[in-house]
Amino acid sequence: MKRTRLGVLISGSGSNLQSLIDACAAPDFPAEIKLVLSNKSDAFGLERAAKAGIDRTAVAHKAFPDRESFERALSEKLEAAHVELVILAGFMRILTPYFVERWRDRLVNIHPSLLPSFKGTDTHAQALAAGVKLHGCSVHYVRPGLDDGPIIGQAAVPVLPGDDPKSLAARVLTAEHKLYPACVRAICEGRVKLVNEICEIGGGSGGSSAPLINPAS
Ligand code: GRF
Repeated sequence: MKRTRLGVLISGSGSNLQSLIDACAAPDFPAEIKLVLSNKSDAFGLERAAKAGIDRTAVAHKAFPDRESFERALSEKLEAAHVELVILAGFMRILTPYFVERWRDRLVNIHPSLLPSFKGTDTHAQALAAGVKLHGCSVHYVRPGLDDGPIIGQAAVPVLPGDDPKSLAARVLTAEHKLYPACVRAICEGRVKLVNEICEIGGGSGGSSAPLINPAS
């Protein structure tokens, strides 16, 4: 089985990175993580990568005069590792159109809301303020607009009485850890087709199809 070569960009804890490391350990998972890059040298995710024996590097954005030269450095490292799919997993730098176009259709992100609702930051507080009863997370191809791009999969969680942003974030994060590997699997199995900026998801072996996760009703 051919395994797609992944590069994962992080800035912090890297719990989504961990869920991908764990998924890649399964013999039938169609991807492998070749490189982890962090813009912060103290990101805990770098330790997770080290523990898993994965190449990792901190690239301090502050060492570069502008965003584009930072992104050029990232791209060079990803290309040197022959990365085929770039995974944003809690990477806290806004990417310029330069990077987004260079990796077009090979760059995915996870956002902690059911897009297109609640773009930007503080998504859990936004959801609580709006009074929605379902919240969740989305994996999408990255486009130049903020949290914009064709949606690959989504996971929903209930908003429960008494929730605050912290409790809701924890529930969403647990769903993220299931959703991201499911979406990466779908992409790497060649089941995600972009048609007029909409993702069409084909059925997988074993009957799995679109990465959708719903709360028990
Ligand atoms: C996640 O909530 C993700 O949706 C957002 O940043 C957070 C990263 O968490 N983009 P972690 O570093 O993967 O634990």
